[in-house]
Amino acid sequence: MKLFLDTANVDYIREINDLGVICGVTTNPSLIAKEGRDFKEVVTEITGIVDGPISAEVISMDADGMVEEAKELIKIHKNIVIKIPMCAQGLKACAALTKMNIKTNVTLIFSAAQALLAARAGATYVSPFVGRLDDVGAHGVELIEEIANIFAVHGIECEIIAASIRKPGDVTACALAGANIATVPYDVMKKCIDHPLTTQGIARFLKDWETVPKK
Ligand code: E4P
Repeated sequence: MKLFLDTANVDYIREINDLGVICGVTTNPSLIAKEGRDFKEVVTEITGIVDGPISAEVISMDADGMVEEAKELIKIHKNIVIKIPMCAQGLKACAALTKMNIKTNVTLIFSAAQALLAARAGATYVSPFVGRLDDVGAHGVELIEEIANIFAVHGIECEIIAASIRKPGDVTACALAGANIATVPYDVMKKCIDHPLTTQGIARFLKDWETVPKK
């Protein structure tokens, strides 16, 4: 399973990209709003940091509007992926963009049927939201597993981006469930790096090293 960073914060993106663990970035209107900066300016900056798929979301609610926004966004960089909300107009826009060879990420996926439809409309990626399903008492990881099984059985090439990740356990559970990618928020990524036993272990090694006779 590959890892993307789920943020529009360029400082976070630089820091995690330098670790060599991510190969893409996802943004959404809420993440962009948090930065208090111009949308295109932020996305352009991100494309200069990470050499991989960068999802930028459209906000029109009609297919024609989504396609027009997409045409503008792809001018920013060849790595831009157009993020489209799952709905009838979104599917229509996805199909049109696929015909134009423009990559898409159909987002706000909460059922396997939605993922199947998005894939059939030509989506490059689907983004099932694990954490938001867990929040309402459902099981987000089970959805990842269902979609992965359906795509495997039917030879569907669309990649599954496990989104709405809330904790390190979600990352590993999604990997086991068959997600192709997990898009991980900065704080969860940091938690994935650290472990109290690793911290203790490093401290003990350094302490013991002090007792090694030095010539
Ligand atoms: C990414 O593609 C999604 O927009 C994001 O993971 C949603 O996460 P949230 O449910 O924590 O807002």
